[in-house]
Amino acid sequence: MTKIKTFENLDLHNKKVLLRVDFNVPLESNKNTNTITDDWRIQSSLPTINLLLEKKARIIICTHIGRPKGKYSKDLTIGPIADHLSQLLKTKVHQANDSIGTDVEILVDQLQESSILILQNIRFYIDEDKNSIPFSKKLAKPYDIFINDAFGVAHRENSSTVGVTQFLPSYGGLLMKQEIEVLNHLTKSAPSPRTAIIGGAKIADKLLLLKNIAKSVENLIVGGAMAQPIINFLEGVSNIDNTLDKQIDVLLKLIHSHNTKLILPKDFLITEQISEFSKTRLINMNDLPKDWQIVDIGPKSISQIQGIIDKSSTIFWNGPMGIFEIKKYSKGTSQIAKTLAKANNKLTVLGGGSTVQAVRNEGLDDKFSHISTGGGAFLKFLEGQTLPAIIPITE
Ligand code: 3PG
Repeated sequence: MTKIKTFENLDLHNKKVLLRVDFNVPLESNKNTNTITDDWRIQSSLPTINLLLEKKARIIICTHIGRPKGKYSKDLTIGPIADHLSQLLKTKVHQANDSIGTDVEILVDQLQESSILILQNIRFYIDEDKNSIPFSKKLAKPYDIFINDAFGVAHRENSSTVGVTQFLPSYGGLLMKQEIEVLNHLTKSAPSPRTAIIGGAKIADKLLLLKNIAKSVENLIVGGAMAQPIINFLEGVSNIDNTLDKQIDVLLKLIHSHNTKLILPKDFLITEQISEFSKTRLINMNDLPKDWQIVDIGPKSISQIQGIIDKSSTIFWNGPMGIFEIKKYSKGTSQIAKTLAKANNKLTVLGGGSTVQAVRNEGLDDKFSHISTGGGAFLKFLEGQTLPAIIPITE
């Protein structure tokens, strides 16, 4: 079981702490100003920042924003995040124009205890993406200790998540610790019956997740359009992609060998053309006409899933049940979100960009036991893969 080394018991008074966070938040560009449209990831690292402030550390925050691939982009600079963090903490957050070098070293030296400096977007350096060792050494140079709270980027082997740990004593932050603890618990020790609800459009993107999660749950619900290739396979209808059939065969055998119950949608909402104004039809699971597309699960599937949720003690959810961004296709996703939000005596965990978005659209994000801040990192962890940034901060 992965156990994160945390900084909670360290004396950090006046220590120069490099804190890696994932403040990769959505930004909207309007009349030359960039506004944060969702600050949830910033909010999620506030407990770590507040504890460091309490400990009277000198806090130097490092994050990436977007994927500038080593090039400066004025739409991806740190300014809006620094301003927003200042407002949240009600304290000035100083800004650096760079992430390494003499100017940064001067600012770090001038920083008082319980003060914060935020570095420029680390991905303006391509060496960050390459996990370059000389760059990591330069990045680490001004600091006494490194704390990684950036679970969302823990699947990337970058200088600021991995390389820097070669040069500094390294620990995990409170968010990192919580994410790892919850996800470990979810698959290993959470109360049974455990149910996983996995949705999305393409089964190929979720095969590894399905295989790994099937080992640790009693009920595996597959929803959304990605259920169709499994239904085809079970009915002896070949999927266009022959390798997919082989992979589904392996998956089904694995599910069977673990005595896991596979639940597929009983009905679907379908359309010929995806649009807010399109005509839709409800069909049973095996009646999909040629040239029609699945855009949601139907009412029988919704009540079947609700019944299973009702009888489960632990529920894990990743992937929407349909194209929830279009209102008339959003019922399946929205009903699952509402049912889980009411299940407050159960362990409810969800993650993945669009699933989190769906729940936040419904204003239900405070109603779950845990919502992961990771997209790719969350999926890779639950696929059973090792996240490179976790290794150096593991006990
Ligand atoms: C995310 O948004 O999932 C993380 O910030 C990682 O971003 P990346 O996929 O650009 O590395």
